[in-house]
Amino acid sequence: MSSMKVCTTNQALSSSLESLKASDSSLGFVPTMGALHQGHVSLIQKAIAENSLVVVSIFVNPTQFDNKSDLETYPQNLNKDIETISAIGSDKIVVYAPSTQDVYKGDLSKENFDFGGLEHQMEGKHRPGHFDGVATVVYKLLQIVRPDMAYFGEKDFQQLQIVKKLVSVIGASINIIGCPIAREPSGLAMSSRNKRLYNNERKHASKIYQILKSVEQKFETVPISDIRKWVQAQFENDPYINLEYFEISEVSTLESAVTIAPNKKYRAFVAVFIRDVRLIDNIALN
Ligand code: PAF
Repeated sequence: MSSMKVCTTNQALSSSLESLKASDSSLGFVPTMGALHQGHVSLIQKAIAENSLVVVSIFVNPTQFDNKSDLETYPQNLNKDIETISAIGSDKIVVYAPSTQDVYKGDLSKENFDFGGLEHQMEGKHRPGHFDGVATVVYKLLQIVRPDMAYFGEKDFQQLQIVKKLVSVIGASINIIGCPIAREPSGLAMSSRNKRLYNNERKHASKIYQILKSVEQKFETVPISDIRKWVQAQFENDPYINLEYFEISEVSTLESAVTIAPNKKYRAFVAVFIRDVRLIDNIALN
């Protein structure tokens, strides 16, 4: 087992990075909110393969939760997360698990960012203030860690696009790398929130990906408005799942698509509730 460094303050992190970082080395960063699963592990493995040193942050960011009970029920188990990271067996990893005070210095206000409209679509519409909270903490974390590359999962595709925009707005030379969605054998996208599902709910949750796969097949042969109606009907037929939104959007603007333009890339996005557990997923369509 590796002797992994766990830092709980940004000072400890800085001195630890100073001692470990060779002058020509590349620093990778995997920001997380803990409750680590195989999806996070795959991000960390990619970061290890592409960098000489990797910081994994574990911090449940209070400012990105628009819903208080979602924050209160968000799964947290730092010891288990540290075990999961240690089991990767790399001596390149430094864990940063700070307190809220260490990151926010007593000022929990969010910055108001303009991401050219990206922030108003989908998650932005349904979770007011969410992306201001995400961008605020990512900005702070990037300033603390100062990485060369940072890794984000495509499950939060809108977040990934927003972080890319953030980095260009602040003029930082950090490579933002999007990584494919890790799925359970049933197809359900891995998420820390899956832990809150009961077994029967989990079975129903696998429908989300099946529906997205059908959308992928229908794309370019069935009109978008008919695909929308079909998706709505599928979810209406399932007593466990409440659809919050379904969108087919162009990937660079994330604007809802009405027709398909040549040379543009599209994805389908979905957010549902199963009881009070909110799940999101998406799929590339072309
Ligand atoms: O995707 C997440 O886990 C969070 O939104 C992030 C990027 C770590 C910011 O808190």
